[in-house]
Amino acid sequence: MSHYDTPLTFKSGITIANRLIMSPMTTQQSFYNGTVTRDEIQYYVDRAKGLGAVITGAANVQALGKGWPGELSIASDDMLPQLHALASAIQAQGAKAIVQIFHAGRMTHEATLGGVQPVSASAVAALRPDAEVPRAMTIAEIHETVQAFGQATRRAIEAGFDGVELHGANTYLLQQFFSPHSNRRTDEYGGTREKRYRFVDEVLQSVFAAVKQYAKRPFLVGYRVSPEEFETPGIRFDDTLWLLDQLKVTDLDYVHLSLKDYSRVSRDEQHNQQSMLAYAHNQLAGKLPLIGVGGVRTRADVTAVLENAELVAVGQQLLYDPTWAVKLATGADDAMLQVPFKEAVKFAPLSTPLHDFAASFYTR
Ligand SMILES: Cc1cc2nc3c(=O)[nH]c(=O)nc-3n(C[C@H](O)[C@H](O)[C@H](O)COP(=O)(O)O)c2cc1C
Repeated sequence: MSHYDTPLTFKSGITIANRLIMSPMTTQQSFYNGTVTRDEIQYYVDRAKGLGAVITGAANVQALGKGWPGELSIASDDMLPQLHALASAIQAQGAKAIVQIFHAGRMTHEATLGGVQPVSASAVAALRPDAEVPRAMTIAEIHETVQAFGQATRRAIEAGFDGVELHGANTYLLQQFFSPHSNRRTDEYGGTREKRYRFVDEVLQSVFAAVKQYAKRPFLVGYRVSPEEFETPGIRFDDTLWLLDQLKVTDLDYVHLSLKDYSRVSRDEQHNQQSMLAYAHNQLAGKLPLIGVGGVRTRADVTAVLENAELVAVGQQLLYDPTWAVKLATGADDAMLQVPFKEAVKFAPLSTPLHDFAASFYTR
């Protein structure tokens, strides 16, 4: 087990100063078209000190991939100047800057897309009260989206970020293709687990190709996964272990297991003897570093996560307590603001809708 205050060098050559990472958290502070705002940059600057890396909130790679108003966009070159300002502001605090890239798929609304119907792997609505029925993507659209992930990666490189995290978690498009609930396709992108993985694989290849073509210095690529779904059919923990086997032989730099609680145990009776984080860590077998997340509030939590992961992501504690990482480094644990798990989001920059909105991120 590593102490949190030790550096880590990823496969790509990027070194981070310590194992603490700001978990990706959208605060809906971007302009209507997804351009980064000054308030948003300040939000990251206020929290970046003392962290090894900051992962930004999700940024959509295509217009149709926008999940909510105020979301970051990386879908056009027009975003580059402000994305550059964001990356360099984070780096000026001593942290590496990673932008999370994604497509919301069916987890959005026509209203958010300017009256256009959301798309997904298949025309199946999510099991949420306000879910809309999406339109199944054509093969040509799938290819365009695969390319869009590559283009977003190129923009991240040009904007000066140190890496991208592919958001394959929290029920968005990458997860929707892998899930037997949202993917009912009968072509080469659906059916067996292997075929449902095809879209993920093509996106990864597109992203790696962009890194190879455009990056002139080390640039990392991470992947975020949600370990199980409640829907039937749905992703089971066994599918996730299989997915980790696929991911660990790619050029990825890390895997990030998205959990509300790092000690959470699977519903799968074959895998309920230890936490999902511990199983995922065993499955990766040291081939890729793992980020653990979910409910980290104290030094003891950091230590507990590092028993089953190489890196620790911290979300709400940093929302509420921006200098928490500095307090940890200086032994000022008594000054840490100990907030109840669900309460922290009330103090997020956009308070009223954000509490409910944040609840949607508490997946699995
Ligand atoms: C306000 C808010 C926004 C979030 N936005 C994202 C996001 O854009 N992408 C993502 O992968 N997870 C997002 N999450 C989930 C967090 O990254 C994290 O996994 C979750 O909050 C659990 O960790 P924590 O207990 O440290 O907050 C968000 C969470 C919150 C509270």
